[in-house]
Amino acid sequence: MAINNLMRVSRSHNIFLKKFAHRQLSVFADFKNIVGDYDKYRKPVGSELMLGMTEFYTNKKAKDLHILDAGCGTGIYTRSIFDMGVGQMALLDASSDMLNVAREKLAAELDANKVSSIVQNSLPEIPFGDGTFDGVLLNAVLPHLPRGDGNFSGAVETLKEARRVLQPDGVISITESLDSSLTNAWCLNISPEIANKFCPILPSVEEWNKIFYEAGLKCLVRTNLLGFGLFSDEDYFDDTNIFKQEWLNSSVYYEPATKEEIERMRQKVKTLQTRGEIKEWIKDHDQTEKFGFMTLFICQ
Ligand SMILES: C[S@@+](CC[C@H](N)C(=O)[O-])C[C@H]1O[C@@H](n2cnc3c(N)ncnc32)[C@H](O)[C@@H]1O
Repeated sequence: MAINNLMRVSRSHNIFLKKFAHRQLSVFADFKNIVGDYDKYRKPVGSELMLGMTEFYTNKKAKDLHILDAGCGTGIYTRSIFDMGVGQMALLDASSDMLNVAREKLAAELDANKVSSIVQNSLPEIPFGDGTFDGVLLNAVLPHLPRGDGNFSGAVETLKEARRVLQPDGVISITESLDSSLTNAWCLNISPEIANKFCPILPSVEEWNKIFYEAGLKCLVRTNLLGFGLFSDEDYFDDTNIFKQEWLNSSVYYEPATKEEIERMRQKVKTLQTRGEIKEWIKDHDQTEKFGFMTLFICQ
């Protein structure tokens, strides 16, 4: 893909914003609409494990690591990884709106020259040199990429690029929910029609294995993270939140749903609330504490 514009953003440090001619955004979510709500509930689930694994496999201390947050969104993971003491990070996302929020969040690290670059670019391309990073994060981003004829080609090509920009002992950390984990969450289990719409977007365990194989990667760690994880327990189990658009926006899982499907889901919750049965229903239909919702993969 040809670079058609390279613009320097000056904040007393060297940050480059690269714009590409045929920039492609998510295949199913419109982040322009949800950017304002994205951070209201979202948590960096698994970030400690990602950092721990990167330190372990590279045999480096956090302060000596250079990590790329690819598909960084509003920089929730970048923020958390910096808070744990990482020396340098780079950010890449296709959405300028999401990157603008990330920039605000990282003002202190930008001033301290700890952010090596912020790049607006569309994956699979990762416009950095070979062996630049010790770690690459790909959190909740690979299913947003074009999948070719059903073979997740966008994910495969992105992972090949991620491997290329890594040091030989560097690791790629991925968090995503599996297709089979989706209905572990009460808030998706309550609407099978919405869950069924989102399910095919997510690779299954077998499809992940194939994606890693085709990208030439070895999966070193594969583990479910117990709990819902993306929100605090308090927000996740609060059944009044499902009536807030910002709560739906923050999760992204409702993006493919129609207004009618959202309305039917809310009606079901309302009926259960009116009958005083909602807490019991959630207890009976939520499996996130037992089986988790997000899966963490560490690859090399
Ligand atoms: C669900 S958000 C995840 C953001 C962040 N990684 C997190 O976990 O909070 C998905 C992000 O992927 C970005 N994205 C979608 N398609 C992309 C592409 N082709 N190239 C780069 N980023 C993309 C979106 O702009 C969005 O910020």
